[in-house]
Amino acid sequence: MEAFDMLRNRRSIRKFKSDQVSEDALEQVLEAGLYAASGAGRQSAVTVVVQDPATVAKIDELNAKVLDSDQAVHPYYGAPTILVVLAPKDALTPTEDAVLMAGNMLNAAYAAGLGSCWIHRSKEVFEMPEGKELLRAWGLPEDMAGVSSIALGYADCPQPEAAPRKEGRVVRA
Ligand SMILES: Cc1cc2nc3c(=O)[nH]c(=O)nc-3n(C[C@H](O)[C@H](O)[C@H](O)COP(=O)(O)O)c2cc1C
Repeated sequence: MEAFDMLRNRRSIRKFKSDQVSEDALEQVLEAGLYAASGAGRQSAVTVVVQDPATVAKIDELNAKVLDSDQAVHPYYGAPTILVVLAPKDALTPTEDAVLMAGNMLNAAYAAGLGSCWIHRSKEVFEMPEGKELLRAWGLPEDMAGVSSIALGYADCPQPEAAPRKEGRVVRA
């Protein structure tokens, strides 16, 4: 896939097949994240790959708790893999590094034939005691901040159309 087509045509996917992603595709996505730009080249951001169904369900449940909705919601739309992108507390550019890592992975997922969607509220999830328990279980410092998470899997829907682009977002000075 041409790089421009990948950047232009990636869309958020919100319906996933239950099949787990192939290890090759996952490796490509993770590698794209590792090669994202980072402030002063410090490579501060960390991605946790979650594929154990019980932990996927736990993160889905914690994220839904942050939403505090009366409806039974599944914020990760049944995706078999969740990528959690975390920033160390003492990083030079923690949020920026993590956002670029996540962005690279969203684009790479499309190039690798996978569907993906940024799922928000990771900050709140990893401030919760249950979120900190997960960080501990993953051998990570408890004060790492959740910046992004990504629902990852094979799309079970047609490729969505992009919304029209808003006017006035490029200014040529
Ligand atoms: C910071 C951020 C937070 C987002 N949070 C969610 C979310 O919690 N759930 C969701 O379904 N989509 C979420 N999205 C996906 C956006 O809704 C999506 O990118 C946007 O509608 C544009 O569609 P596209 O990604 O197909 O171009 C988020 C995207 C960003 C960048």
